[in-house]
Amino acid sequence: MTKISSAVSNAAPADRVNTHQKVRKAVLPAAGLGTRFLPATKAQPKEMLAVVDKPQIQYVAEECVASGIEHIIIVTGKGKNSIEDHFDSAPALERFLEEKGKKDQAEMVRKISNMLQFSYTRQKEPLGLGHAVLVARDLVGDEPFAVLLGDVLIPGPNPATKQLINVYESTGVGAIAVEEVPRDKTHLYGIVDGEPAPQAPFGERLLRIRDLVEKPKPENAPSNLGITGRYVLPPAVFDCLARTKPGAGNEIQLTDALRILAREHGLWAYIYDGVSYDAGDKLGFLKATVELALQNPEFGAAFRSYLKTLKL
Ligand code: G1P
Repeated sequence: MTKISSAVSNAAPADRVNTHQKVRKAVLPAAGLGTRFLPATKAQPKEMLAVVDKPQIQYVAEECVASGIEHIIIVTGKGKNSIEDHFDSAPALERFLEEKGKKDQAEMVRKISNMLQFSYTRQKEPLGLGHAVLVARDLVGDEPFAVLLGDVLIPGPNPATKQLINVYESTGVGAIAVEEVPRDKTHLYGIVDGEPAPQAPFGERLLRIRDLVEKPKPENAPSNLGITGRYVLPPAVFDCLARTKPGAGNEIQLTDALRILAREHGLWAYIYDGVSYDAGDKLGFLKATVELALQNPEFGAAFRSYLKTLKL
């Protein structure tokens, strides 16, 4: 048995305390500059770019609601005020819509701010994803929490975050979502070195993490299992983050903190059930837009007919 596997199977006594602690909070890092999506992101947050008819961050907030999360902590930065406005109540707009007889729209607007509790904190300097999560430490407190990256959309009836919460609440050990990525794209992801650790009810989807590498070149990648942007972590990760030195891109990487967490407390990789879109990338954004538009109950069928008329 390796050192790491014993850490997971013994589930470090300190973690046992949290074994059945409910995952109530989620951290959404949203402080990034969105340089991959310029010029659209010059004066507006990438999280607010709409896919079909909703800002990306609303899809992620809805995944939280569907996963049983009660409190979302958004880590913002300069120029991100429209995120707070979007999730705030809008009495003047609601009144206007009601006066015009648009009750459904008024209700839709109201639901956005009533979804759950929102808190905001700022990452003052762009020191990396790991640092952004560390900034939320006081708001999270001493309890397990989810992390959802705002530019990864995972639509569908079986929320990826809920799948990870199930693993955490049943084992008391953190879990991160992974999926197969093309070999020549490993430099875009955190890559996992895991060994199969099937157990009921999760079966073959569960792997015990031996190590992780942030954005390796294909020749240095330990596998083709990439981290998808969904995490459920014990509060012990904050101590790991506090000890993490700048890594890839000279930033404090969440993946590097997870190496420490995996070594000291164990960590699962979970091959989640679903399809993800990297909507922070222009092509990924287009794919998400087309596929979600096709599923839209109001105009999906008309959009499909339109696409069929295109001479490709
Ligand atoms: C981040 C993480 C990376 C993960 C990716 C998923 O990278 O650092 O480990 O695989 O998200 O989208 P980013 O895409 O923010 O550079």
